[in-house]
Amino acid sequence: MDSDRAKVQLLKKGDIPIYEPGLPEVVAANRKARRLHFTTRLEEAMKNAEYVFIAVNTPPLPNGEADLSYVETVARQVGHILRRYTVIVDKSTVPVNTGDKVRQTLLLHGKKNVPFDVVSNPEFLREGSAVQDFMKPDRIVVGVESEKAETMMRALYAPLKAPLIVTDIKSAELIKHASNSFLATKISFANALAELCDRVGADVAMVTKGMGSDPRIGASFLRAGLGYGGSCFPKDVSAFIHMAESAGVDFKILRAVREVNDHARLWAVDRLKKALWNLREKTIAVWGLAFKPDTDDLRNSPAIEIIHRLQSEGCFVNAYDPVAMTKARTHLKNVRFCRTPYEAARGADAVLLCTEWKEFREADLARVKSLLRTPVFLDGRNLFDPAAVSALGFQYHSVGRSAPSGN
Ligand SMILES: NC(=O)c1ccc[n+]([C@@H]2O[C@H](COP(=O)([O-])OP(=O)(O)OC[C@H]3O[C@@H](n4cnc5c(N)ncnc54)[C@H](O)[C@@H]3O)[C@@H](O)[C@H]2O)c1
Repeated sequence: MDSDRAKVQLLKKGDIPIYEPGLPEVVAANRKARRLHFTTRLEEAMKNAEYVFIAVNTPPLPNGEADLSYVETVARQVGHILRRYTVIVDKSTVPVNTGDKVRQTLLLHGKKNVPFDVVSNPEFLREGSAVQDFMKPDRIVVGVESEKAETMMRALYAPLKAPLIVTDIKSAELIKHASNSFLATKISFANALAELCDRVGADVAMVTKGMGSDPRIGASFLRAGLGYGGSCFPKDVSAFIHMAESAGVDFKILRAVREVNDHARLWAVDRLKKALWNLREKTIAVWGLAFKPDTDDLRNSPAIEIIHRLQSEGCFVNAYDPVAMTKARTHLKNVRFCRTPYEAARGADAVLLCTEWKEFREADLARVKSLLRTPVFLDGRNLFDPAAVSALGFQYHSVGRSAPSGN
């Protein structure tokens, strides 16, 4: 059930409103088996339901706080319809104590003496590998306040055969926010390290490889680049900082994480200025618009912010992304949208790689060089081997890899 009519219409036709590998197949198979239906009517969706999942958006307010008005609206509407025992599962990412507020709202708007349980069941899937992550999770977190709710949640997830971590509701809510904030911290750590590597002539990729092979540290999310983006990390870090402040705790580390991330996005414009001197009337080929590969999600994408900055410096932008072009047209103005990475490079003064799509890894860089006006390549995701790209005759720039063996 979704209140967005256009989205529901699309789904009813068999179309999927987002790009997500494997999802069209899952939706088609379950519609065919008559296990999956789409509607805009909550009464229809809740008919015979034993569980209700709340998975609405929780966007940031201007002060960073999570906007819980969508969760509240749904809780109110569910309360009006509830007629028998139901498990109300909060799937949205929410600050600690939201479970209490959902319970109070259900009591306020629901019929008297209709029993229910509120459960917190945060979602850890990643866009781009959502189906796989959901089907084979490394853990499922369930925050409950009754034995009955725990039994119901165990039964629901039994087919996935995944480890279940059962906690109280507040701890479950905190697990999600703390996990995303910690992953963001790893990314910002790598980016702060990259800046130091640049200054002292070391190679951040080698340093993080050396660090990451220690299992206590781990290699994932320890990659320098243009920083994190998307619909989750930026808003969850801000919401966590705000929630901690409201509880009287100054979570200083996370304020620094956010600051480093903002700074990482500026790298591209600073480097281009160093390479091309003036940016006015220079043409930049931007490769990749989505905030990460295998998604068309542009929410909080570094590429979009960087393009806006380049335009304010007087640049012309040729843009290409393997799947996000349609969505990008609503986010960007005065950009030349190209059909291939080569078309974007033709006549440009530099290529700026913002998203590490496989298509770029496999690009014919010798051909790219022949199309460019000046052979400047900025690799914002450290996708390429500096020595190999430089050997093709490019002036190659990447993040924190200015060591002599590299460039
Ligand atoms: N996108 C992810 O990868 C991801 C991963 C983990 C957790 N989450 C969390 O899941 C939640 C949803 O994220 P998303 O990316 O799917 O957001 P989204 O904005 O893409 O989708 C939210 C949907 O909720 C609908 N909605 C809002 N109010 C409604 C109402 N009253 N009744 C019915 N429908 C309503 C909207 O129309 C929209 O389609 C967020 O809290 C997010 O933090 C997202």
